[in-house]
Amino acid sequence: MFKAVSAKQIPRHIAIIMDGNGRWALARKMPRTAGHRQGVEALREIIEASVKLRIAHLTLFAFSTENWKRPESEVKALMSLMVEFLQKELSELHKNNIKINMLGRIQGLPQDAALEIQKSMEVTKNNKGLQVNIAINYGSRAEIVQAVKKITHDICKNRLSPDDINEDLFSRYLETAGIPDPDLLIRTGGEYRLSNFLLYQSAYTELLFTDRQVLWPDFTSRRFLEAILEYQNRIRRFGGIDV
Ligand code: FPP
Repeated sequence: MFKAVSAKQIPRHIAIIMDGNGRWALARKMPRTAGHRQGVEALREIIEASVKLRIAHLTLFAFSTENWKRPESEVKALMSLMVEFLQKELSELHKNNIKINMLGRIQGLPQDAALEIQKSMEVTKNNKGLQVNIAINYGSRAEIVQAVKKITHDICKNRLSPDDINEDLFSRYLETAGIPDPDLLIRTGGEYRLSNFLLYQSAYTELLFTDRQVLWPDFTSRRFLEAILEYQNRIRRFGGIDV
């Protein structure tokens, strides 16, 4: 299966909305948090496959600004799972030359989660392999509004002129500054929307939605490779025509 994927057209950046953990658990009469735990297992497999495929960036929607609306017990369980994942996996991630990066507001996260994320970023900051961007307490509209505020501030301080503003400059004010736009965005679980994830960055991203039978805990490395194969069969025109 790994051989079927063309090494030449590996997406540089894959973004994933890991949806369906709750339904996976409910179908097995288990608590929703058991689905999230199984979701972490799926994530481990996808990170490993991404390293093998030499993907440069993997961006994961782990917790949105809207996810605070969930019951407190589920929010707590999700935060604890992230802490547990980073505590258990940091040395292995580091050994594999993986760089951990966070997108989203660190303020507002429980202290142990904030500390663990900061530590993971610090330990892995010089790694040159796969960059795993974990979006936690992230919302794309808030990110865009924040970019506008920063630009306005820089104009007021005479560090920037309104004439300097273009798409490239705007990208540099987003939290994804320096990260190429996603080539492929995968959402599992059969919902066909972006849910406030990477809205500016996904203008020309290839979107791949699995059907509702494939929930995030079911997303194996085989399905990941199938998604990349589908991506490799798409024709990207970026608004132009085929030549
Ligand atoms: C959506 O499923 C999933 C989430 C809100 C959380 C995703 C988090 C993980 C996979 C684990 C933690 C991540 C890291 C980085 C260690 P849902 O609960 O909305 O599923 P449903 O649509 O079936 O209810």
